This record gives sequence, C-alpha cells and structure tokens, in this order.
Amino acid sequence: MELKKIARDVWAELEEIGDLAALEKFRVKYLGKKGAITSLLRSMGNMAKEERPIFGKAVNDLSKQVEERILLREAELKEKARLFQLKKETLDVTLPGRKAILGHRHPIKQVMEEIETIFLNMGYTIAEGFEVEDDYHNFEALNIPKDHPSRDMQDTFWIDTDVLIRTHTSSVQSRVMEKQNPPVRIIAPGRVYRCDDDVTHSPMFHQVEGLVIDQGITFGDLKWTLTIFLKTLFGEEREVRFRPSYFPFTEPSCEVDVSCFACGGVGCRLCKHTGWIEILGSGLVHPNVLRNVGYNPMEVSGFAFGLGIERIAMLRYGIDDIRLFFESDMRFLRQF
Ligand code: DAH
Repeated sequence: MELKKIARDVWAELEEIGDLAALEKFRVKYLGKKGAITSLLRSMGNMAKEERPIFGKAVNDLSKQVEERILLREAELKEKARLFQLKKETLDVTLPGRKAILGHRHPIKQVMEEIETIFLNMGYTIAEGFEVEDDYHNFEALNIPKDHPSRDMQDTFWIDTDVLIRTHTSSVQSRVMEKQNPPVRIIAPGRVYRCDDDVTHSPMFHQVEGLVIDQGITFGDLKWTLTIFLKTLFGEEREVRFRPSYFPFTEPSCEVDVSCFACGGVGCRLCKHTGWIEILGSGLVHPNVLRNVGYNPMEVSGFAFGLGIERIAMLRYGIDDIRLFFESDMRFLRQF
C-alpha cells in the first residue's frame, strides 16, 4: 500500500539530504500541495467510510512526524552552514599586515632638492624663467651675439629664427635682473635642452643656475660660497679647486672641481686618474650682462654659476648611462 511505502522510504531519503536547498525540495515532494503525503489525503474519497478516519489519522501522523524531522534537519543544516561560514571567515589577527608600497622622489629631483636646500639655507630664493625662450635671453643678453663662436658650443633646438627651447638656465639671469634691482641672490633650477644624445648626454636635462649681485661682490665671495656649497653637498673632507676657463657671460671665468669622492683624490676610474671631478662653471658676471639689464657695472658686481644635475647624480651613484634616468624602469628607480 502507498502509505506504507512512503513511510518506509521517507526516512532514508531524509538522511541523505546534505543542504537546505535539497531539504526544501524534499519538503515540497512530500508535504507540498501536490506532495506525495498530501495526495494520500485526497485519495481518501474512494475509500469505505469506516476506513477513512483510521487512514486519515495515519497519514496525518506521518505528515506531522515528517514535518518535525524536517524542522530538526533544517536546524542541523543551518548550524552546519553557520560553522562552515565562520571557519571560512576566520581571521588570523597575528598575521603581519600588508605593507603599503611607498614611492619616493626621482633621483634627479632628490639631488635638485638637496642643492636647493643648501642655497635656501644661505638666504637665496628660487627663481623660474621659461623653457621656451627667445634668442635675446638665452644668448644676446648674456653677451653672446649672433656671430659668437660660443653659440656652436650648444646645439640649440630652434622653434623659429628667434624662439628656442633654452639651452641653459643662464637665461633666467637676465629675466630676474630685468625685473629686480640689486641685491639679487637667486638660484634657478630647471630643464634645459640640447640636440645631443649619447650615454652622458640627453636632449633634455636639468641645471641649477646661481646668481648673486650686490655692491662690492668679489671673486672671494664666489670662492667662499661655492666652497661651502660643494663641501655641504659632497662632504666636509672634499677639496675644492678653481680652474681658469671661459664663458662669454663671466669675466674672469672658472671651472670648479672637487677632489674625487670615489678615491679621495688618489686617482681612479671615476676621476679618470686625475684625482679631480669637474662640477660646475662659474665666474664674475660680465659687465656687458649687467649693462644689458640696466645695472651699472661701476656700482654693482656679482658672480654666477651653473651646474648639471644629471652629471652629479651619475657621479654620486656610479651610473654610467644618463638614459636610465628617463626610462622610468622601476628596477632602476627603486634603488634610490
Ligand atoms: N651656462 C653654462 C652651461 O650651460 C654653465 C655656466 C657657466 C653657468 C658659468 C654660469 C656660469 O652661470 O657663470 O654650460
């Protein structure tokens, strides 16, 4: 008989159920509107009158038992699911945290800021000019007329016959002096451009220019300032040497060397066995440069200097290819 078969199967089937979705299916299968047990009640119509109450009670009893067992099973499965979820979400609070990845400034910017700090501490201010510059401020005002051979020293990127991208930060000198009366005490860091490209030259690189103008500025002031600067940058134990040189915008002019910071001056590969490393160009500002901005060379004098940042960074960190600075290779940059 149907009832007996159901009563036999239902418990075994219930035991097999492993999750809540299957349990709900099971409930519908037996106790739903069209479920097997529910259907039994409907089939009573065909029965003899006196059998109906007995059969009805048996079906109701089974239905109640099944329902109770479903509730029990449901509670069990819910608990099982809860434990599973808890285990999945377990946190090990003793694990070390994930480190935030911190960036840092580009090595060129680092050297630049070091230099800026030294001069800011000496009372200088930072001046800015233009990267797109005219012939006048890049050359003419600096005592470099059109036919001057020193124009060949700098392979200029011309935009048109009068406009260029500046070949040096010396162009900031006249820009500052045109707007300001002495005393002047500035440095001008920035990008410069030259048509040049090999392991030690890049078409774009960085310079810092310095300019001091006041009454009675002498070569002694230049020597003192640059000696302090270079010893602060490269170490107190460095020696500083001033070598006569030529620049159109200074007179007299000199190049300034420090004793090699790799070998201490004995001679090595870095200093090409001379014991000295050339760092910057400098000199007393040429009277023509002063006159061009309306200063009177009989009243004021000054000194100027200029240096390349990449060169200093390369020497300091032992980098032999300037292009590494501009390739944005993280393996390179992370080292600084
Ligand atoms: N402008 C020069 C260059 O680009 C560097 C320089 C030399 C700047 C001597 C100066 C200076 O102010 O006095 O090579």
